[in-house]
Amino acid sequence: MKVIKAEACGFCYGVRRAVEMAENAEAGTHTLGPIIHNPQVVNRLAAQGVIPIETLDEVMDGSIVLIRSHGVGPDSYEQAKQKNIVILDATCPHVKKAQLDAKRIIDQDEKLVIIGEKFHPEVISISQWGANRAIIIETEKEAEKVSFSANLGVVAQTTFSQELFKRIVAILETKTNHLDLNMTICTATQQRQNAAIALSKQVDAMIVVGGRNSANTRRLAQVCEEQQCPTYHIETAEELQPLRFKGMKKIGITAGASTPDWIIQEVVKIMENLQADGTEVMSEELLDQY
Ligand code: F3S
Repeated sequence: MKVIKAEACGFCYGVRRAVEMAENAEAGTHTLGPIIHNPQVVNRLAAQGVIPIETLDEVMDGSIVLIRSHGVGPDSYEQAKQKNIVILDATCPHVKKAQLDAKRIIDQDEKLVIIGEKFHPEVISISQWGANRAIIIETEKEAEKVSFSANLGVVAQTTFSQELFKRIVAILETKTNHLDLNMTICTATQQRQNAAIALSKQVDAMIVVGGRNSANTRRLAQVCEEQQCPTYHIETAEELQPLRFKGMKKIGITAGASTPDWIIQEVVKIMENLQADGTEVMSEELLDQY
């Protein structure tokens, strides 16, 4: 079976950096929230003694706490300072930029609009840097409802759709005399989607690896299906059903931004060892055991 991995897939820069920082942290370090939406990674870190907490109230003074790539608001840094907590800051630089843009917009006394999902931790952190004064919108309909103001500053959730962002901005342009536009969308998500679309046009089926609760993974599966390519979304290699790929010759594999390399590699290996009839090719190693 020929297996092709999408050109861009798996961990993005910010997630890779955060996970590596957690892996290199000493036992007893806490992460403020699960480091990523991937139970396998969280469990692996827990076995190393790096345990998630929900709030800084849970840790003793002087503890070490890692801030994940989504970032947190200024209050958390302040609380950490009060408790002499050592902060390992893995906030993705793209998120940090959006946070600082939000702060500047509020400091300049402009109205702040964040384009993104209201309950996403990253958007919450950006909003907190904007003194919780932001209007958070994610649809064109909501943009229509924004009232007119002389100065309007805009930032976006880093993973927001570029197309929808443009359409919303076109509406916001009619709501102000001066639009302070900060293009804070990061290209990692778009690159993964483009690579998945290109690959799904060349293969018999696509396998999308990643958490079912990961929005970017589900979106990858959706864009592959839109190309009329049979698509299978799995969380781990154990979920692979070889018979589904019976008679197929070329399989594409992609993975969400929170899927670690080792899980992708496991899936690639199993698929490479499948025969066209859906049975496994026995490795030399296994044959020796018989
Ligand atoms: Fe950062 Fe972009 Fe990933 S903002 S966390 S590199 S999706």
